[in-house]
Amino acid sequence: MNILLLGSGGRENALAWKIKQSPKVEKLYIAPGNAGTAFVGTNVNLSATDFEGIRKFTLDNNINMVVVGPEDPLVKGIYDYFKNDPELTRIPVIGPSKDGARLEGSKDFAKAFMMRHHIPTARYASFTAAQYNKACAFLDTLEAPYVLKADGLAAGKGVLIIDDLNEAKRELKEMLDGMFGEASSTVVIEEFLSGIECSVFVLSDGESYKILPEAKDYKRIGEGDTGLNTGGMGAVSPVPFADKEFMQKVEERIVKPTIAGLKAENIEYKGFIFFGLINVKNEPMVIEYNVRMGDPETEAVMLRIASDLVDLFEGTANGNLSEKELKTDPRSAVTVMLVSGGYPGNYEKGKVITGIDQITDSILFHAGTTVKDGNIVTNGGRVIAVSSYGKDKEEALATSFKNAGKISFDKKYFRSDIGFDL
Ligand code: AMP
Ligand code: GLY
Repeated sequence: MNILLLGSGGRENALAWKIKQSPKVEKLYIAPGNAGTAFVGTNVNLSATDFEGIRKFTLDNNINMVVVGPEDPLVKGIYDYFKNDPELTRIPVIGPSKDGARLEGSKDFAKAFMMRHHIPTARYASFTAAQYNKACAFLDTLEAPYVLKADGLAAGKGVLIIDDLNEAKRELKEMLDGMFGEASSTVVIEEFLSGIECSVFVLSDGESYKILPEAKDYKRIGEGDTGLNTGGMGAVSPVPFADKEFMQKVEERIVKPTIAGLKAENIEYKGFIFFGLINVKNEPMVIEYNVRMGDPETEAVMLRIASDLVDLFEGTANGNLSEKELKTDPRSAVTVMLVSGGYPGNYEKGKVITGIDQITDSILFHAGTTVKDGNIVTNGGRVIAVSSYGKDKEEALATSFKNAGKISFDKKYFRSDIGFDL
């Protein structure tokens, strides 16, 4: 079969790497892809949200399945776009319907969904600009720090955590007045939860589900989890505290009611669900839903899936996922992200990357790269994910750190403490 994968980051390079291992795949296209995806498939110069362009490409190239990497096309309704088009309707899209994508596209929807289905999450309330005084009164009932979340998509920047009550009220005003544009016209205020986070991924056909290997990501730029938030600086799988007992709680209290809730609300969902969890004294609580895989978690998780991912996607699309087997690799897998100096603030692009061809014992997933004058050059803040296996996380990390040192580009930076807290 021929598969079109949408997206251009490290997550998509990892998905492409795994998809390409399936004997079922004839041609793999990635739109738009990056210099790394070009090693495993054919890049297509199309944006992941150019539905008309994707439609034409799909029909012209006999595509049999579309796999969606990022949330944007899902929130904009690519699943429904295919379903409602007579010529595209037979081609499955791996990802939720527009309705289902509200789990990520609207934090207010996600919180209300969790309340309806008794899924453990932080206490909250949502407010618009007209309800500013009520919102302040709600803040008065909470203890510091205060968590303010833009309802809509804000490129991962829409969450503010503030220690001071008066500052929280000022920032709340700014948010409601458009700090994140339309995305913060509604703001979710919630109770702060204290604990260590982990990401749990599920693939569902709307009826049944498979729980994929979990991972922990490292979001801050600085070692010891300090400094600004980034798209993710590294990830580790498995997560030691996500033991059998913890994962059983996750499945019973969170995964099952989520899948059942989607079904009960007639929300079509054939794709990944990413549960952003926090471990509060051994009790899992949901911080957020995403309707896609995590980045950089995918760059570790794909290494631990031993089954044919495309076979699992077929089960997802055809509604017989329960008949498929998910085998996992018992080894540890980790990823360490090489980033451009200055990121997540301003940074330069176009730096020539060398040393890639010397790496034999790690798997490199490109995040922000492109080809210029025959060289692979940096093209984003996050540049390359260095992923490795090991008998344990220490061994895997040692390999990734060693190889992170062998790849060179001007102002390269990476965190050499990934996994430090586990
Ligand atoms: P989100 O976009 O909802 O994942 O939020 C971004 C980050 O903010 C999360 O990964 C957490 O580290 C943090 N966060 C969000 N909500 C809470 C909360 N209720 N309590 C503590 N930390 C939170
Ligand atoms: N690693 C977190 C995310 O993908 O949103």
